Amino acid sequence: MTFEIGQTVGDYQILGILGRGGMGAVYRVRNTLTDREEAMKVVLPGTEATGEVADRFLREIRIQASLQHPHIASIRTAFRSGESVLMIMELIEGVSLDAKLREGPLPLGEAFRITDDILSALAHAHAKGIVHRDIKPSNIIVTPRGGPKLTDFGIATVTGDARITRSGMAIGSLAYMSPEQVMSKPLDERSDIYSLGITIYEALTGRRPFQGTGEYSIMNAHLTEIPVSPGAIVRSVPLGISVVVLKSLAKAPEDRYQTAAEFQGAWRQAFFGGDDATTKVFAPQQQPSAPHPPQIEPKDLARVESGLTRVLGPIAKSLVAKAAAQHHSIEALSRHLAAQIPHEQDRVAFLKSCGLSSRAHTTPSGSQSISPIDDKTLEAARKALAASLGPIAAMVVSRTAKRVHSAEELRDALADIVDEKDRKRFLAAFHLP
Ligand SMILES: Nc1ncnc2c1ncn2[C@@H]1O[C@H](COP(=O)(O)OP(=O)(O)OP(=O)(O)O)[C@@H](O)[C@H]1O
Ligand SMILES: [Mg+2]
Repeated sequence: MTFEIGQTVGDYQILGILGRGGMGAVYRVRNTLTDREEAMKVVLPGTEATGEVADRFLREIRIQASLQHPHIASIRTAFRSGESVLMIMELIEGVSLDAKLREGPLPLGEAFRITDDILSALAHAHAKGIVHRDIKPSNIIVTPRGGPKLTDFGIATVTGDARITRSGMAIGSLAYMSPEQVMSKPLDERSDIYSLGITIYEALTGRRPFQGTGEYSIMNAHLTEIPVSPGAIVRSVPLGISVVVLKSLAKAPEDRYQTAAEFQGAWRQAFFGGDDATTKVFAPQQQPSAPHPPQIEPKDLARVESGLTRVLGPIAKSLVAKAAAQHHSIEALSRHLAAQIPHEQDRVAFLKSCGLSSRAHTTPSGSQSISPIDDKTLEAARKALAASLGPIAAMVVSRTAKRVHSAEELRDALADIVDEKDRKRFLAAFHLP
């Protein structure tokens, strides 16, 4: 059966195509009864959708329909039409993560948020005993508002065998398959944890950990190769984050996080808690060239370094190098460094050499203590950040507030966490006292 734009299938009129995958296509459709736009996935097109396979698929869909979570694409219904099985899903207006990653790795804050939301979605599904089996960037749709949505739940249960035997179609999913999947062993939720690990690795670095040239070499790599740490590919990935990703990619399921909740706990700790003792076991990375050029011009960095050397001496060099990996703007970098200068006089001189005012760093009395951040400012920051990060904004603000010394510094540090678009929104919403 072919599906053409304008054609009506059951109660659904086909309006356009949303994407094509290995196992079928997804169309934008309009329900002619409710007039609502939805997404229609044609799975197993052609003769395969007959008999037992279709029954199994429809059974599976019933289980999927029981999942209700803000980060899982909901399934509305499914039906057969001729030899095809059609699945009607909520229409998600967004960009699939694989399309996004074609432009390069994600900023750390965005990668954090997407992963955190997908981990919540997985915890929900796993609690119901449902394993996704096909976690990969093309099955995550990133929406401009409301975060990411996981799609294609359960489909792999039915199509899993087919995708390996149908040579050529498998590559897309093979890159994300767990070692136990490669070996056709029984799967549990730890398989999803591994596949998400590969997805996060790619989101952080812009490349997959195992890049074989053919099916066999990719499968073999899942079984035997030790991935390079993400932080060794992209310098700005914190050590703690690299460690968490590598643990999720352990070959043996028992060496990974055992549940999505455990994974999420470690992920948040790594992001908010910085490099703690557990991360120190990893030796400092050799840093090859990052895929993205640094966002601060070398000449600006040199200027900051010489300004800081004047007040702190030779240690300035390593302080600047470390801070440059964490800050995207020269202003945020300078303010971060200024906070580490003990004497106010020096701090003022340093900021001046960077072309910045020292307003936020000078108390009215002119003493050397740095003004604390009042509750009203903290509340305003939480509110402004919640628009981008949701409920975790409160935790991010209180943690960040502990390591900064002024409202301005807090603003810059928070602005650094979110991505470009959200940064503008945050800065517009957060007014300094
Ligand atoms: N509910 C939806 N709303 C909007 N777009 C969707 C929806 N589900 C899927 N898509 C889009 O359709 C594209 C194709 O999806 P599809 O699942 O057919 O392919 P795939 O994920 O690339 O491969 P596979 O066949 O292995 O799942 C996706 O990348 C996504 O952009
Ligand atoms: Mg898919």
